[in-house]
Amino acid sequence: MADTGLTGFSRGGSGYFTAVQQPEYIIMGYTILVTGATGFIGTVTVDYLKKKGYDVRVLIRPESNADTVSSMQVDVVNACYDDPVSLRKAVEGTDIIIHLAGVTKSATEKGFYEGNVLPVSNLLGVTMEVNPSLKRFVLVSSLAAAGPADNPDPGASEDDVPKPVSIYGRSKREAEKICLSYKGRLPVTVIRPPAVYGPGDRDVLQFLVMLKRGLVLGTGDVRKQLLSLVHVDDLVRGIVMAGESPDSIGETYYITSPRGYSWDELSSVAARELGVKNIRMVALPKLLLRFFSYVAGSISLLTGRPGFLNPDKVNEMIQDYWVCSPLKAERQLGFTASIPLEEGMSSTIAWYKEQGWL
Ligand SMILES: NC(=O)c1ccc[n+]([C@@H]2O[C@H](COP(=O)([O-])OP(=O)(O)OC[C@H]3O[C@@H](n4cnc5c(N)ncnc54)[C@H](OP(=O)(O)O)[C@@H]3O)[C@@H](O)[C@H]2O)c1
Repeated sequence: MADTGLTGFSRGGSGYFTAVQQPEYIIMGYTILVTGATGFIGTVTVDYLKKKGYDVRVLIRPESNADTVSSMQVDVVNACYDDPVSLRKAVEGTDIIIHLAGVTKSATEKGFYEGNVLPVSNLLGVTMEVNPSLKRFVLVSSLAAAGPADNPDPGASEDDVPKPVSIYGRSKREAEKICLSYKGRLPVTVIRPPAVYGPGDRDVLQFLVMLKRGLVLGTGDVRKQLLSLVHVDDLVRGIVMAGESPDSIGETYYITSPRGYSWDELSSVAARELGVKNIRMVALPKLLLRFFSYVAGSISLLTGRPGFLNPDKVNEMIQDYWVCSPLKAERQLGFTASIPLEEGMSSTIAWYKEQGWL
């Protein structure tokens, strides 16, 4: 893998790099297996890798969205994470695996573990068996695996002791531990994105739908809270850079915006794009939210369908600093986010409007 080095960066006032020169590691003839390919981040990843010249293979489950798969024009392997025979077919002959598949919402703890832990464990087990010379396994984890930061500047660092505050976060951390236990046997890398936004995402959309009505709903100390965000295009570029870099084996990275944003700042940027003049920020009392979250959580358990609100979600919402530091990825990978918030929000909102989602 050639390292062309990094020169000519200049940081604008916002902390984003304005003139970005990225290293180019195009590895001709490499086959990359992408899991979770039909999801929000997965579809962007597949497109990016195809444009970069990789041979892309996707692992498709019986439950995967067939329409998305048929529009991808890539090598498709049908597999189940609990069926080693089909997993072997997916893994054999691949050079790099980018494991994006996962469950961000589930009505049960079992659902999180089956979606986030079991696939990592089984994929790595099968890889060790049939493809021990794999060049890289990239696990896409989450800031949730580490939990919120104690200090927002520069935010959580990769060396901090993980303290996940939700079942989702604990399941992602468990997956990280399994992945990193292969260090020395397989070249593994862990990526922890913060909240990801961009065309196709439905989580930030919920915030924008409320904002369009002039309302920002939160809980806890909403004036103090800060959160890191990353545009999906920046994230995918960062994931691939980490997968290609010879220096990232056995390492964990946050791929993130240069700093955390307040709800005020996020709301003002998005409100300008939406043409909303007056915004009311409402901090719902924690106790009230907890009460409703237990009711909503019980309904989810009965129906088996994950709802927007549950006690786990409230544990995440009340935290002050969902902020992570960009420094290690900047130093070791040469990665910096290049899409300023204003630009990313503007194109995302335009996309939502085109789709009729907003
Ligand atoms: N979006 C964010 O803000 C964010 C932030 C931090 C980390 N992440 C992580 O990034 C990854 C991708 O997230 P995303 O936002 O693209 O989510 P997504 O749109 O829900 O996509 C996840 C994909 O995982 C696969 N999947 C769903 N249920 C599964 C199950 N039970 N077992 C195995 N695979 C399953 C599906 O792909 P197939 O049908 O193609 O298999 C699904 O499209 C996840 O691992 C998530 O934890 C996301």
